[in-house]
Amino acid sequence: MIKTVPTTPFKDQKPGTSGLRKKVPVFQQPNYAENFIQSIFDSLEGFQGKCLVIGGDGRYYNRDVIQKAIKMAAANGFGKVMVGKGGILSTPAASHVIRKYKAFGGIVLSASHNPGGPTEDFGIKYNIGNGGPAPEKITDAIYARTTIIDHYKIADFPDVNLDRIGRDDVGGMIVSVIDPVEDYAALMEELFDFGAIRNLISLGFRLCFDAMSAVTGPYAKDILENRLGAPTGSVRNFMPLPDFGGHHPDPNLVNCHELYEEMMSDDAPDFGAASDGDGDRNLIIGKGIYVTPSDSLAILAANANLAPGYSHGIAGIARSMPTSGAADRVAEKRGIGIYETPTGWKFFGNLLDAGLATICGEESSGTGSSHVREKDGLWAVLLWLNILAVRGESVADIVGQHWAAYGRNYYSRHDYEGVDTDAANGLIASLRDKLPTLPGTKFGDLTVSAADDFSYHDPVDKSVSNNQGIRILFEGGSRVVFRLSGTGTTGATLRVYIERYEADSTRHNIETQEALADLIVAAQSVADIRGRTGRDAPTVIT
Ligand code: G6P
Ligand code: ZN
Repeated sequence: MIKTVPTTPFKDQKPGTSGLRKKVPVFQQPNYAENFIQSIFDSLEGFQGKCLVIGGDGRYYNRDVIQKAIKMAAANGFGKVMVGKGGILSTPAASHVIRKYKAFGGIVLSASHNPGGPTEDFGIKYNIGNGGPAPEKITDAIYARTTIIDHYKIADFPDVNLDRIGRDDVGGMIVSVIDPVEDYAALMEELFDFGAIRNLISLGFRLCFDAMSAVTGPYAKDILENRLGAPTGSVRNFMPLPDFGGHHPDPNLVNCHELYEEMMSDDAPDFGAASDGDGDRNLIIGKGIYVTPSDSLAILAANANLAPGYSHGIAGIARSMPTSGAADRVAEKRGIGIYETPTGWKFFGNLLDAGLATICGEESSGTGSSHVREKDGLWAVLLWLNILAVRGESVADIVGQHWAAYGRNYYSRHDYEGVDTDAANGLIASLRDKLPTLPGTKFGDLTVSAADDFSYHDPVDKSVSNNQGIRILFEGGSRVVFRLSGTGTTGATLRVYIERYEADSTRHNIETQEALADLIVAAQSVADIRGRTGRDAPTVIT
C-alpha cells in the first residue's frame, strides 16, 4: 500500500511569514507539494499513531493537496487525520480543532488574503500542537530538508470522500471528516454573550458582514444569522468559491470599497465587517468611521472585560512592531504587560502559551486572543458586537471616547507593490547602512531621536530574531518604519508604516494623511523611495 517515490529538491521552498506560498502552477509541478509535505513530516518527531488536522480555505487546488496530504500522512505513520467537510477549515477553526482534540499538529492550506484560482496563489503551512504556526526553528528545519529531499512516502488508496461527515478506516489510518463550523461556533458561544448580542440585534441594530466569497461564509452565516438572529442577507458573499469570485480576499479599504462607501452613507448599517480568504483577518467599520486595526486592538483590549470569556481581565497585550502604540497606552494605564514582536502571528505563540499576553494584534488586520493560536477575524467581529451590546453606544462614540481617554495614534501604511526585488533590497540595505548617522538629523521640523533595525528577544524561549524592520523614531514619539513584505509572490512589496501620537483631543479629527504629511515627506526623503523604486506614489494606502 505504501509507495516510496524518488524525488529531487526544488530550490524555492523556503517558508515566508506564513508558510510556503506560490502560484498554483508552481504547486502543480510534479512532486512539488509532496516534497514540501514530506519535508514537514521529516522535520517532526513523535507523531507515529497521532492525529493530524488538515483543512484549507477552499481555494483552487485545495482538494487536490488535501488528498495528497491524507495519503502521505497515512504512509508516514499518523494514526488519524481530521479534515473539515469539503476540505474547509478556516485558519482559526483549524487552530481550535488542533487544540480541542489534542492533535499532534495540522496542515493549513491557504494563501490567506492572496487571490485564488488556477493562476493565482496557493499555500501550505504547518501548525504545531498548541494550534499555532510552527516557530522559526521548525520552519528552518523544513526548509533545510527541502534542499536535500530525495524521496517521499505516499499510501495508495482511493481519494477520501470529503463531502460526507463521518469516520473511515483508510489504509490503517482513521480519517474523520468533521463539520468545520460546529466546534468553532461552540467556542464563540463560550467566549461571548450571545444573549446580549441577540438582544441588540432584535432591537434593530443592523450589521453587515462581507465574507468575500471565502472561507468565513459558512461560519458567519451560522453564527451571525442563525445563532444571533441577524436578518438573512446580513452576511454577503457567503459561498466559498475556488477563485473567491475573482475578488481579492484581503479586507482592506481598497478591496472592500463598496462596503466602505455604504458604511459612510446616510442610511449605513450600524456595523460593517469583513474577513479574508482564510478567515483570520478582520475589517471593522462603524457608521461613518473606519477603525484602524491598531486602534481596534487597543479598544478591544480596553473593553475585553465586558465579554464573559475575558471578564476576569487580561494578562497582557502583544502587538507586532509596526502596529501603532495605541495598545501600549491601554497596557500602561491598566498596569498590564505589553510586548512588541516582529511581524508574523507565530511570534505571539510563546507569549500566549506562557500566559504573558491574552490579546494580540497586528496592523495587518489581525486580532486574536489566547482562545486559539491564530488571529481570528470573526472573533474580533464578535468581541466588537459584545462590547457594542453592553455599552449601548455607537462605534464612532466608542472610538471617540477611547481617543479622548488615551490620545490618538494617527496611523497609516503605504504599500509599494510589485517593486523590483533588487531595488527593494537595495533600499532597505542603504537605510540599514545609514542608521548610525541618522540620530540628530532633521527632516523639516522633525528630528530623528533614534534609528535601528528591530531585533526581537523572545522572553520565553530566549531566541533572537534580527533584521525585522527599520525603525526611525522622531522626537515627540512619531515614527516611520520600513520593511519588505514576507507574504507576496510577485516581486517585492515595500511597506512604509507612519505614526504620530496626538494627546490633544481638540486635534483628534484631522484627516489621517494630512495629520501625517510631514512624516510622509520625511519617509520619502530618508529612503529615496522615488529614486530607488521609480514609484511616485504607493499602490495601496490603508
Ligand atoms: C500574514 C501573517 C501576519 C502578518 C501578515 C503581514 O497575514 O499571518 O502575522 O502580519 O502576514 O505580512 P507581510 O510580511 O506581508 O507584511
Ligand atoms: Zn489570512
